[in-house]
Amino acid sequence: MIPVITIDGPSGTGKGTLAALVAERLGWHTLDSGALYRVLGLAAARRGLSCDDPISMAALAATLPVSFAADQVILDGEDVSEAIRTEEAGMAASRVAVHPPVRAALLGWQRRLARPPGLVADGRDMGTVVFPEAPLKIFLDASPDARAERRYKQLKGKGLDANLPNLVADIRERDARDRTRSVAPLIAAADAVLVDSTAMSIVEVLDRVLEEVRR
Ligand code: CDP
Repeated sequence: MIPVITIDGPSGTGKGTLAALVAERLGWHTLDSGALYRVLGLAAARRGLSCDDPISMAALAATLPVSFAADQVILDGEDVSEAIRTEEAGMAASRVAVHPPVRAALLGWQRRLARPPGLVADGRDMGTVVFPEAPLKIFLDASPDARAERRYKQLKGKGLDANLPNLVADIRERDARDRTRSVAPLIAAADAVLVDSTAMSIVEVLDRVLEEVRR
């Protein structure tokens, strides 16, 4: 079986950065599953479709002209790698992600990305639904304030618009939706290693995870 490490957790815990660092250390592939939901949210907005309509969102998920080339996300032939990183796209993603048929349409696609020598997959349901057999599962958490502050610095660093109180509100709204949806809610897998990164640097978190990898 191809080895998979799953990293799940709420927004702004540094899952993506951590996944990239772990994959680099091991020479493995990465799956940024949130990018799939973000690109769907962006595509819905661009097509004037409602993210809350399960039927049109399922059809969109099944037919979306999206491809992932190196570090680029291409939608309708356009590089949307930056466009999917906005708060609006994140919020749209969490609305699209509540629909069971949308999640089902993305399941096989995500699983096919597990290829030798291994995969580091980050998201919300990597350890619970997509790769339940993964030998190492990490659940990364941090306080909402710490997460909003990280997201603020990240957006500012990219020259994007950011407002801290709005980010705290957005994070709480997205957390609530991700945690209470009927399918694949954000929850730690029973066999996940819980890591609270509130007071940890990314290097400390990486060391902690590599310690688990060596076990
Ligand atoms: O970067 P951040 O953690 O804020 O978000 P993301 O991982 O890019 O995911 C954006 C949204 O997509 C989340 O708020 C979830 O609602 C949804 N998502 C999901 O439902 N399942 C996943 N495996 C990944 C993301």
